[in-house]
Amino acid sequence: MNQMLTTPPAAEPIQGGVGAPAAHDSAVKHVCGTALYTDDIPVPRGTLAVHLALSPRAHARVTRLDLSAVRTAPGVAAVLSADDIPGVNDVSPLVKGDDPVFAAGEETGGEVQYAGQAVFAVAAETIDQARAAAARAVVTTEDLPAILTIAQAMAAGSLLEPPYSMARGDVDAALAAAPHRLSGRIEIGGQEHFYLEGQVALAVPGEDGDVQVHCSSQHPSEIQHGVAHVLDLPAHAVTVVVRRMGGAFGGKESQGNLPAAVAALAARATGRPAKLRYDRDDDMVVTGKRHDFVIDYDVGFDADGRLLGLDVTQALRCGMSFDLSQAIGDRAMFHADNCYYLPAVRITSYRCRTHTVSNTAFRGFGGPQGMLGMERVIDEIAHALGKDPLAVRRINLYAAPAPAPGFPTRAVTPYHMTVEDCVAGDLIDELVDTSEYHRRRAAIREWNATQPVIKRGIALTPVKFGISFTVSFLNQAGALIHIYKDGSIHLNHGGTEMGQGLFVKVAQVVAEAFQVDQSRIKISATHTGKVPNTSPTAASAGSDLNGMAAADACRTLKARLTRFAAERWGVAEAEVHFLPGRVAVGRHDTAFADLIKAAYLARVPLSATGFYATPKLDWDRASGTGRPFYYFAYGAAVSEVAIDTLTGENRILRVDILHDTGRSLNPAIDLGQVEGGFVQGAGWLTTEELWWDAKGVLKTHAPSTYKIPACSDRPVDLRLRLWDRGVNREPTIHRSKAVGEPPLMLAMSVLMALSDAVAQAGDGRVYPALDAPATPERVLFAVERVRTGA
Ligand code: MTE
Ligand code: MOS
Repeated sequence: MNQMLTTPPAAEPIQGGVGAPAAHDSAVKHVCGTALYTDDIPVPRGTLAVHLALSPRAHARVTRLDLSAVRTAPGVAAVLSADDIPGVNDVSPLVKGDDPVFAAGEETGGEVQYAGQAVFAVAAETIDQARAAAARAVVTTEDLPAILTIAQAMAAGSLLEPPYSMARGDVDAALAAAPHRLSGRIEIGGQEHFYLEGQVALAVPGEDGDVQVHCSSQHPSEIQHGVAHVLDLPAHAVTVVVRRMGGAFGGKESQGNLPAAVAALAARATGRPAKLRYDRDDDMVVTGKRHDFVIDYDVGFDADGRLLGLDVTQALRCGMSFDLSQAIGDRAMFHADNCYYLPAVRITSYRCRTHTVSNTAFRGFGGPQGMLGMERVIDEIAHALGKDPLAVRRINLYAAPAPAPGFPTRAVTPYHMTVEDCVAGDLIDELVDTSEYHRRRAAIREWNATQPVIKRGIALTPVKFGISFTVSFLNQAGALIHIYKDGSIHLNHGGTEMGQGLFVKVAQVVAEAFQVDQSRIKISATHTGKVPNTSPTAASAGSDLNGMAAADACRTLKARLTRFAAERWGVAEAEVHFLPGRVAVGRHDTAFADLIKAAYLARVPLSATGFYATPKLDWDRASGTGRPFYYFAYGAAVSEVAIDTLTGENRILRVDILHDTGRSLNPAIDLGQVEGGFVQGAGWLTTEELWWDAKGVLKTHAPSTYKIPACSDRPVDLRLRLWDRGVNREPTIHRSKAVGEPPLMLAMSVLMALSDAVAQAGDGRVYPALDAPATPERVLFAVERVRTGA
């Protein structure tokens, strides 16, 4: 033990601690193709391929389902329908009971509720055999009336639940008394997630009916509980492992339940491992998307554009079942204010039930649609008053909270939560300067005055995004840390890695806690056997929650190590310090690994769990009041665009972004999130258009017909900055702020810039009322509208 008392070489700061721009832990593996995704895991001998047979009809009764010819087809090991489910025929999240695994059985019959719904499945030796066998089914159906669109659902009163409202103040009186008033509508399209890796699950049967599932999911605990529910097993019989996803974007919060359940059913039925991987077209048809919205508004304002009263209704297309639509509808309402104070407001939400795929989480979770409604209102007010929309935005921003109760305040949201941390004004001021907004806006107006065909536009929009799950109990997380006797560290927590960099951030937190290089820490797959009852990695809260849980486990371990070291060298615990790569114990210095070895020999436990529950949350859905969010994330963007008024084609010329991530855990990762989020949002609002035919069949089910942004669609001039004054006023993990979703909403500036360009194609009298996505077709229609007034 001599060696322990030698002083290590002079301390260098640790590699990959908190705040370091550390590369994504899998960056090199991603680009070299050596990162293992579920479909890359070498499969056990005898693994079956599973294929889902889908309904071609949107709404129909299955009058006959005869699968006998499927069963006798070459290579078939099992055919599964609603009749073959030992447990419950349901994979709905939050156990609403309205998402059947299979729509029908040979004995039970059934009803299909969207074109693309799973009717039965075939497990065979090869995927080609499974597909060929499925085609031999005899299925006859009788069409039922189908409600496909928001308009049809609203006309028929087809809602999943009664309309839900949030309100503050007397909105009717405020509207009646307002010196100016206008009303309008914006239609906002949905969005396909287009994760590069599709939905996939590999189920491996174990003994006693146990099953292990490897899959691509943001929510391993839900896969575990869903599979257990369908197979009628206790949760402890199902283990779910997720090393990483090749993108998720909310599309793997609930949508992985079906493939996992079906793979597990096939494994159960045959005793063989089974893998289900959707091909791209099936994936696009089977899985839910971002909700499309129709937002109607009636707004009263004064001559400066100050908002006096706003009555807004949001109708969203939920599809055939709840899925996560209730929380998504709620989040849209929570963001109907964006950054602006509304003295009198009513927000009413209609959750439309339609015979289309059940829509689901997508980055922003309804927030983007809710906010876009507000930005449209501001844009239209500015147009009506002939003002720069930036001026209208500025005077309506949330102010500092009132100094004491009883004081008038412009800092209360429509859901009665006081905004304590609004930095939108400061961010906007800085961005206006650095982007030279005013000079460029004037130059654009000069250009447009002389150019007949190409018109340019510019807009600045801010973002305020509430951080926390609004379903309060989800705001919890666990972690598990082992230190092995060689001093290497195994890190596990309930969060999942979908490319966003959560794993490296949490590893940085642990490296910082122990003052060791990040290379000493093993980042491991999310595993329901290690950390139980986890929440989905969603709501951007992954690093807030799991970072804190891991820090908690580190505290426990450090306390044990500190006590041990103090006793061993006879010093006070206060004299034990974790320094870069070493631990100072009074006058003694020991390398971290040597301390661990000594602690092991002294029988100090070197494994600990950690836990975190977000404080301060207090939301009452029934009364629509309280504090659903721990804090808000803010950002702002200036976009400049050009449109061709003859074709509607358009380009994003330049974008300047200033985004607040508090004290960033990892500025390199955070900048990546800002850039990726923005580009994904710009795709949603410009080129990505979902199109169903009159029978409810999705026609845009492949990249040939659905246009996501390519490298060439990234703005040529893209200037991204994290706000260097950013700090979270709440004691989050190292005072950082969540970053996963908020930057997507910076892309609202693109739609508003396009609106600005279109407005200048006419004489300024008619408002463009540009809907999303602003495809060339919609831009062209809007140009016609402002030119002809029709
Ligand atoms: N970034 C990448 N690269 N891939 C993704 O799938 N999902 C987004 C965002 N950023 C996603 C992403 C969504 S929808 C969320 S909620 C957050 O990441 C989740 O991770 P976090 O909570 O760790 O930020
Ligand atoms: Mo993100 S939409 O909360 O998974």
